Amino acid sequence: MSFAAAWEAAGREADRLKGQHLRQLFAQDPERFARLSRRFGDLLADFSKEKLDAGALKALLALAEAADVAGKREAMFRGEPINLTEGRAVLHVAARDPSGSYDAPGFAEVAPTLDRFLAFAEEVRSGAYAPPTGGRFTDVVNIGIGGSDLGPAMAVRALAPYHDGPRVHFVSNVDGAHLTDALKGLDPAHTLILVASKTFTTLETMTNARSARDWLAAKLGEAGAGAHLAAISTNLKETAKFGVEDSRVFGFWDWIGGRYSVWTAIGLPLALAVGAENFRAFLTGAKAMDDHFRSAPPAENLPLLMGLVGIWRRNFMEASSVAVIPYDERLGRLPAYLQQLTMESNGKRVTRGGEAVKVATCPVVWGEAGTNAQHSFFQLIHQGADVIPVDFLAAAQAHEALGDHHVKLLANCFAQSQALAFGKTPEEVAAEMRAKGLPDSEIARLTPHRTFPGDRPSTTLLYAILDPARLGSLIALYEHKTFVEAALWDVNAFDQWGVELGKELAVKLLPGVEKGEAPAGADSSTAGLVAAAAALRETR
Ligand code: F6P
Repeated sequence: MSFAAAWEAAGREADRLKGQHLRQLFAQDPERFARLSRRFGDLLADFSKEKLDAGALKALLALAEAADVAGKREAMFRGEPINLTEGRAVLHVAARDPSGSYDAPGFAEVAPTLDRFLAFAEEVRSGAYAPPTGGRFTDVVNIGIGGSDLGPAMAVRALAPYHDGPRVHFVSNVDGAHLTDALKGLDPAHTLILVASKTFTTLETMTNARSARDWLAAKLGEAGAGAHLAAISTNLKETAKFGVEDSRVFGFWDWIGGRYSVWTAIGLPLALAVGAENFRAFLTGAKAMDDHFRSAPPAENLPLLMGLVGIWRRNFMEASSVAVIPYDERLGRLPAYLQQLTMESNGKRVTRGGEAVKVATCPVVWGEAGTNAQHSFFQLIHQGADVIPVDFLAAAQAHEALGDHHVKLLANCFAQSQALAFGKTPEEVAAEMRAKGLPDSEIARLTPHRTFPGDRPSTTLLYAILDPARLGSLIALYEHKTFVEAALWDVNAFDQWGVELGKELAVKLLPGVEKGEAPAGADSSTAGLVAAAAALRETR
């Protein structure tokens, strides 16, 4: 079947299902959960609360075949230069399979580089690598932004129960408040600064890195500061210029994108926090998902199904935004991490061939940990005018035995997807009020406000416990989901030209902002803002 024909066929399935409420779909099929949930080890993906059925799923799987998702996936694993605009292979999968055989220049360095940065992590943790002035490194500050921040920051928080190394802090924003607040209370004599930047040219990171080096030097002297610096980058020329000693520079390769780099030395903050063994377990969990993605039959293949559900929501159910709600406090940074992973990857308006896309691409991704989210924006997800599909994530087991906290957390998670799917009809609402003795006039007035439309889709990912391997597999699952969506939209998920223009303009504007005068020819709004900021700077 051609891709166009498969797309049309999926559209017909969507039209058929749009007329049916999720209540009906569940009523028609008592086996719906069994039919539409999938397992990968202890990870359960429940798709039964999506607006899908066997017919729609079949059409989506046919669409994946017509788009040759399997062929595109193999091209990635074979190391073909699928990042067409930069002529690069895309082999983050190689970083979690150091003993595998990948075709990328430098691949042979993957295993020794991993051994090296994990050995360094262990040396810092044990005190074998220690501050020259004595004692230990009690604190590590990772300076990086985007992919050089979000992955390790998300993972370090996620694996808090495994922390037994130095305290790890993250600084990303060029706003001096970020560095100032992070360094407050830290002692330069016991602090290790990691400068993490794939390019080692990023304005924010290099500005923060210079200020942090000054902070070290103010107490330890220029010569003393060096031992407190390490760098992670693909640009070894620039790390040398910055003055980081070679033995503390950890490289990676241009065939690993920034937002896919937590598996490399960019993950050093995580290794420092949880140790080499747990870091290796994190990689092993991701590798297991890679193997599953490569070998599981399409109808059982979790990343493929998640990607197809993503396309279904976006292109056939017209959802323009998706919420990610982990009922797992330690995954609080997951939505931010997924924002970069998915929106920087698939926020594209032209196809790989450079033509305007004919269908909508990446939705807006946002979210917050539950139950907090219930008390802020869930009102809109339940009763707002837009339908916003939700990914729920939850662990069946807590790390801490703390009364009934965890069962309450789970009950809330399951209740939310239940309320979204089934809602509460006007008849049910009216009957409840009648039972409470409200007069008919009040019942009529309040019923529209108290009705829940339901029929709002969600997927729940449920796992035994958030351990390093499960975290690795969840991240790899979302990476491959993003890949599947890109394959169906025919966009290049591995470049990010859209972030360049703002960076260029900021560099051009900088002298004007310093002087308080926009460059000649600037538009009136920009000139007005520059002048107003200059005037406001004088007010205190
Ligand atoms: O501005 C976007 C971006 O290029 C991201 O893709 C990247 O993760 C981030 O900046 C940081 O880049 P670097 O690691 O080179 O400092």
